[in-house]
Amino acid sequence: MSLSQQIAWNRQTAGNWGEFATHREHLARLLDELCSGRHEQGQGHEQGQGRLMVLGAGNCNDLDLPRALGRFAGVQLVDWDRAAVLEGVRRQGCEPGPRLSVDAPVDLQHPVDRLQPPATEAAADVVLSAGLLSQLVYSAIHSSAERPAAVASRAAEVRLGHLHDVLRRLRPGGRALVSFEIVSSDTLPELVAWPPAELAVRIAAAVRHGNFFTGMHPRAVFDAGQRLVRDGQAVDLRRYPPWRWSLGSRHYAVAALSFGRGRKPL
Ligand SMILES: C[S@@+](CC[C@H](N)C(=O)[O-])C[C@H]1O[C@@H](n2cnc3c(N)ncnc32)[C@H](O)[C@@H]1O
Repeated sequence: MSLSQQIAWNRQTAGNWGEFATHREHLARLLDELCSGRHEQGQGHEQGQGRLMVLGAGNCNDLDLPRALGRFAGVQLVDWDRAAVLEGVRRQGCEPGPRLSVDAPVDLQHPVDRLQPPATEAAADVVLSAGLLSQLVYSAIHSSAERPAAVASRAAEVRLGHLHDVLRRLRPGGRALVSFEIVSSDTLPELVAWPPAELAVRIAAAVRHGNFFTGMHPRAVFDAGQRLVRDGQAVDLRRYPPWRWSLGSRHYAVAALSFGRGRKPL
């Protein structure tokens, strides 16, 4: 997706705070779980400490900023659409300042500093990549008229590249949560009516039948994480069952994985 298309989509969904409620709550709960797990393991994330970096913050409709500011000492919002982030922050009654920074415009498909980890003081304790991976894969494969095999390998490159970029932004010992869209009601209209308890099984069946966004097979995303674990760069890879994100007339199946940054240099 081009920058102008993405900006248009962000404007179109800017007023959807209400529709995002269950999705936002789901992400917030996963973040809470991630942080309390870290705390139990004695890895040092106390309430009100540490820094959260959100990649793909956009309109911030999927992020409860006051709640995040209650949990973390600092929150950094990264996106290439600066106007969307600033408006999103304002809509939640917050203001950029020493505890809330807006890092935009930044192109997360081609981060200029992708080969070096950020300085220690710029690294985050927790990184949340919020619905960005699907956009990055979509942009990469739709900008080329390649054969299916080339598309698959391009998607694999983007998945791995993004998880690596997430790791790079974490301090050693930090943890990341990556949420991604698997499929929408455009090709899976039944998704709308499935009871929450049946979502995981039914979505898995749809995926087995080939009904998922190109490059976004959940197994393929998880495999990219496993590769980083095998390389010693990531640790403690976990996956979370899918949930439904209802956005007006369109519904998405969303899933997530989390991992920690290992001690091995990237
Ligand atoms: C599906 S939206 C995520 C939802 C968003 N967090 C919200 O609450 O509105 C994806 C976000 O990724 C951003 N994005 C897409 N491609 C990007 C890129 N190459 N670099 C930086 N941000 C990008 C878009 O601007 C958009 O805000």
